[in-house]
Amino acid sequence: VGVIHISEEARDDVAQKLRIGIYFAAWWALNVVFNIYNKKVLNAFPFPWLTSTLSLAAGSLMMLVSWGSRVADPPKTDLDFWKALAPVAVAHTIGHVAATVSMSKVAVSFTHIIKSGEPAFAVLVSRLFLGETFPLPVYLSLMPIIGGCALAALTELNFNMAGFMGAMISNLAFVFRNIFSKKGMNGKSVSGMNYYACLSMMSLLILTPFAVAVEGPQVWAAGWQKAISQIGPNFVWWVMAQSVFYHLYNQVSYMSLDEISPLTFSIGNTMKRISVIISSIIIFRTPVQPINGLGAAIAVLGTFLYSQAKQ
Ligand code: 3PG
Repeated sequence: VGVIHISEEARDDVAQKLRIGIYFAAWWALNVVFNIYNKKVLNAFPFPWLTSTLSLAAGSLMMLVSWGSRVADPPKTDLDFWKALAPVAVAHTIGHVAATVSMSKVAVSFTHIIKSGEPAFAVLVSRLFLGETFPLPVYLSLMPIIGGCALAALTELNFNMAGFMGAMISNLAFVFRNIFSKKGMNGKSVSGMNYYACLSMMSLLILTPFAVAVEGPQVWAAGWQKAISQIGPNFVWWVMAQSVFYHLYNQVSYMSLDEISPLTFSIGNTMKRISVIISSIIIFRTPVQPINGLGAAIAVLGTFLYSQAKQ
């Protein structure tokens, strides 16, 4: 019986590793596709507030249809759940729109190099707002992260302040989002997939009035006509692809968060950025100077050192 028991455990372990491996591979692949279509859309139609809103709208619609048709079970939520979700949704909305504004101003690779500095923000926020302290190696690992990001920013050929600040604001907002959502998901009453669905819906409600105020239907209509006349009817597919893939990669990442520690999650997220940085440089033929690439490599290496130090 003992032998059967052990082999069953081993089988469960292999099955879980395989499942997490599939989640990670899907998360990175979906994210690369999102980033490419998002940038293609922003190049032709530079309205990041609208594209951010459409991403949330597509996800909300897909999940409402899934719940209505019972493809997915709707979550059982109460007022307390939505109250706890509110700060997560505010942070998610700010982080999402700030990253998209950044990508509308600079190369996708640059936004993600700055976003690879997120662990430095996590440590600073935990230290300053939550009073958490960390062992010395964690603080030391921030030096290559901050230094690498700074070097990459200083040597970026197409540096733009709004693009840089957007990525920085996104880092800060996502650190708060992760802190709040870890608290909210701890009860485990709602699965990762449904948690992210509710998050999208609430963020959509928050973002829509701001998107209308900042950009607005008139500029959207004029921009849309121009984009269609330049790109042709395919442009509609690009917009749909960026919206649907945005939801899918986030959904998969929240599904994997159900099964892994936040630390494993952040390592996965950094590896995701490497694939986005490399693929977007190739696809958009982004000019990169060696010193600029060195800065990016140091920043990413720093994130790995950080994850080791935290372990
Ligand atoms: C967004 O638009 O929300 C950002 O591209 C998300 O960035 P991240 O999920 O890679 O942190």
